[in-house]
Amino acid sequence: MAAAFCIAAFLISLYIAHFVYKWRNPKCNGLLPPGSMGWPLLGETLQFFAPTSTFDINPFVKQRMKRYGPIFKTSLVGRPVIVSADSDLNYFIFQQEGQSFQSWYPDTFTEIFGRQNVGSLHGFMYKYLKNMVLNLFGPEGLKRMLPEVEMAANRDLKRWSTQNSVELKDATASLIFDLTAKKLISYDPEKSSENLRKNFVAFIQGLISFPLNIPGTAYHKCLKGRKRAMKKLKAMLQERRANPRKQQSDFFDYVLQELDREDTLLTEGIALDLMFVLLFASFETTSLALTLAVKLLAENPSALKELTAEHEAIIRKRENPDSSLTWSEFKSMTFTFQVINETVRLANIVPGIFRKALKDIHFKGYTIPAGWAVMACPPAVHLNPSRYKDPLEFNPWRWQGIDMNGATRNFMAFGGGMRFCVGTDFTKLQMAVFLHCLVTKYKCQAISGGEILRTPGLQFPNGFFVQLSEKVQSGQEQQQCMI
Ligand code: HEM
Ligand SMILES: *[C@@H]1O[C@H](CO)[C@@H](O)[C@H](O)[C@H]1NC(C)=O
Repeated sequence: MAAAFCIAAFLISLYIAHFVYKWRNPKCNGLLPPGSMGWPLLGETLQFFAPTSTFDINPFVKQRMKRYGPIFKTSLVGRPVIVSADSDLNYFIFQQEGQSFQSWYPDTFTEIFGRQNVGSLHGFMYKYLKNMVLNLFGPEGLKRMLPEVEMAANRDLKRWSTQNSVELKDATASLIFDLTAKKLISYDPEKSSENLRKNFVAFIQGLISFPLNIPGTAYHKCLKGRKRAMKKLKAMLQERRANPRKQQSDFFDYVLQELDREDTLLTEGIALDLMFVLLFASFETTSLALTLAVKLLAENPSALKELTAEHEAIIRKRENPDSSLTWSEFKSMTFTFQVINETVRLANIVPGIFRKALKDIHFKGYTIPAGWAVMACPPAVHLNPSRYKDPLEFNPWRWQGIDMNGATRNFMAFGGGMRFCVGTDFTKLQMAVFLHCLVTKYKCQAISGGEILRTPGLQFPNGFFVQLSEKVQSGQEQQQCMI
């Protein structure tokens, strides 16, 4: 009896040892990059998600870059992953989309964005997404939208300036969400009984988080929000179907028209998933970037001064200072675009861009086995001191002389290659217009908060509270003097 037990125990330990050995030494037809696979199953997941409060490269990545170099292996949320902090490999990954690599995101993304999510948007789904977004957010769409963006920014700024303090992250999120939802689905928060945006809260945290679906976790909150938002979107789509409009003007009209076509591959489920992704992708990212921009400007008076001068000059050049922004004025905001680039470089709102290797890939002497996940790491590129001097410094002027050859190798805040962010121009428009309205009309005083936290997605755990006060217009002053 005792002997049998001993043999069983021996066999079990042998099996476990074998499992652990295989876990630590994955199969590969070539040389795997160095790195540790961590604990069986858990991998190095906990280390990866450990919160940090710096603008610097995630310590998880930084330590391993030091130890192993810019390409290393690890295991995250149960998957073997090659992490790339190497700008050449990142570039290669972007260029090889659909050939050697395919978009792939961890299960947290799939569950939250729906199975027909942005991550699995290859081929035909992709076509719908691109068309739809270009329809609304392409150059022509943006030109049409400019006055609306300006009006919304002015309206909200005016309201905030009557309050003792505003929490900027939430306030800009609401501004941008309402604007985007109006464009996409003609959503009017004033006429709606339910607050649609509430369901999107805590998303970035939930997306790039440990996939533990129990009450209290960011992931759980996220899934619940998704369910409610999807229900609401579905009801709205059905209502539109029952009351179609004559002229196609928003995303719902586009979807209904597509669904009616005989040869269509679009389904209602896919369309709703797409809409969900777009609503999310558009407001959470841009409001983080805007909040950070205002914080960085408040901390860098010389940058704020130059930005203000650029926008005051735009108004001075006009015949009527109260006329609204024109497209060519928008295009002339050189320093503003430098501020925006510098902000998103430091923000690293997307800390990892995920792909899956479709076949064995040989690169710089290493082999990435087919089926493995690859995480391109934008922060490592954006904070590389050999490309960006004093990388942690907010220095919009650095963009002045920067050689933009090989831009995608050294700047990937919006991704690169075929899957380059379709909302880039929309984001830049919203940020530039908001900054224009802010610096020409208001003084902005930081009150509290503004600390950042990364898990590894960017957050403002204490918000960022500011007080806005109306500027005395220099033009008016002069007029008064003359009278
Ligand atoms: C500061 C703001 C933003 C940042 C930093 C950002 C970042 C990114 C990045 C890095 C990607 C590439 C993902 C990948 O390759 O897997 C991406 C894709 C995407 N973004 Fe953005 N984005 C921003 C704003 C927006 C806005 C405003 C929209 C909505 C109009 C949007 C819609 C999308 C969509 C639909 C994709 C998927 C494109 C594809 O898979 O081909 N983004 N974004
Ligand atoms: C911002 O970065 C993009 C992408 O690298 C580049 O094409 C653009 O010229 C930059 N803008 C400014 C004002 O430097």
